[in-house]
Parts: sequence; C-alpha cells; structure tokens
Amino acid sequence: MQTISSIKNSKSKTPIVMITAYDALFASLFNKKVDIILVGDSLNMSFNAKADTLSANMPIMLYHTKAVCAGAKDTLIVCDMPFGTYTDEKMALKNASKVYQETNAHAVKIEGGVQRAHIIKALTSNSIAVMGHIGLMPQFVRREGGYKIRGKNEEDIKQLILDAKAVEEAGAFCMVIEGVKAEATKRISKSVNIPTIGIGSGIDTDGQVLVWSDAFGFYKEFKPKFVKHYINGAQLIEDAVQTYVDEVKARTFPTQEHIY
Ligand code: KIV
Repeated sequence: MQTISSIKNSKSKTPIVMITAYDALFASLFNKKVDIILVGDSLNMSFNAKADTLSANMPIMLYHTKAVCAGAKDTLIVCDMPFGTYTDEKMALKNASKVYQETNAHAVKIEGGVQRAHIIKALTSNSIAVMGHIGLMPQFVRREGGYKIRGKNEEDIKQLILDAKAVEEAGAFCMVIEGVKAEATKRISKSVNIPTIGIGSGIDTDGQVLVWSDAFGFYKEFKPKFVKHYINGAQLIEDAVQTYVDEVKARTFPTQEHIY
C-alpha cells in the first residue's frame, strides 16, 4: 500500500494511478489496484447531478469519505476539501482536522496555488498531509466564467510554475495539475520535486487521475477530449436492466436455479 512518503518519493518513477470513488462498493473494486483513491467533490456533479462542485460541504464529504474508507482499507485515500471550507487558516485547520478525526482518510486536497499556500502551510505544519491542485480549478468556475484550459501563454505558464512551487514549499506531498496544455504541464512538472498527477494535462506528469464515472463511460453525453472510456458502463447497465425488466415481465426470472 502506498503511503504519503512513498508517493512523495515517486517523482519521475513508476506513474501514480489515482481514481475517484464516492462509495464503499466502488472503492472496494479499486482497492489494492490503484495507488490513490480521491473522494473528489466532483461527486456533487457525478452523483448528485449538480452543475458544479460548489455546493458540496463538509458533512457530504465526510459521509462519502467514511464510506470509501470502509470499502478500500488497503489504499491511500484523499478527501477533497469542499468549497468555502478553507478560506482562512483557522477554518481550514478546523475542517481538515474533522477529516482525520471522523474518517480514516490519509490526506486532504486543496485547490489553489500561490493564493492558497498559507492555507496548505497551516495544515502541513499541523501534521495534516495535503495534496495540492493547480491549473483549472473547478471551485473557481463561477469566478472564471467556465472551465478554462490553462497554460496557453507564457504569462500564464509562469504563474502556474509559481503556483506549483508555492504548493511544494508549503509542504504538499504531491499535486494535481488539471486542464493545462501539455507542453506547459511538462515545464510545470519539471519545476517541482514533488510528484504531479495530471488530468487533461498530457503525459508529462508523474501520474494520472480520472473521475471513475467518466473513465467507465457512465455518462454517454459527457466525453471531453481528455477522458477515455475504458468500458461503456452506461450501455452495459442499460442493457442489463432491460434484460431484467424483460425477464420479470415474461416470467422467465426467477428460474429453478434461483429458487429455494
Ligand atoms: O473532484 C475531483 O474529482 C477532482 C479531480 C478531478 C482531480 O478534483
């Protein structure tokens, strides 16, 4: 099983595999296979059909993190800190402490670079492991007016390098780089000594993360360029549920083998 230290020491080594999970069942399927399970606030969209992540809150994240921890006892687990729960050091410490006190998660994730470095520092200097998150940050979607790919010009790349360095200096053990042009990601990743885990940011990171329902094709209509559907989950379930409905209606289920 990976630990905070083993991940921190895996810069430029075997790529880190991270996937999201929101419940015990799927977490148990990913357990021991991936390096890290992220209880992402993306659950607000993929599980609760909300337009963005902003209304996820501490009780929701704690509930899902407890479930994931119950299902995946042999995998490093990271809990996303939801929007509005780490606006200053005191609040961040209070809320991140709840993650350690009420769940078995190993770390929290914080969105933000230079502007959030003091928050990351407040947590890491109080023994809370932090995964950073820079580039396209979903919690900034309303302020930014949409999900905008980053690293398209030199000025932005320089800012992202500053963000990455600030996250590293504040003591994060690794960081997510989301929605950044591949060439820019390469430079950003090279600029720090802690591992980078990319999503929609190309191949030159120390690992990759995907939202599980995206990776397994559960949203037929949602397929941004960076997502690969490893199975056609939605179609498989729809076909299976139709077969179940047809068999019950036709009285061909249950058969002798399913009857006591
Ligand atoms: O909430 C989430 O699932 C995330 C990943 C996309 C990195 O932050």
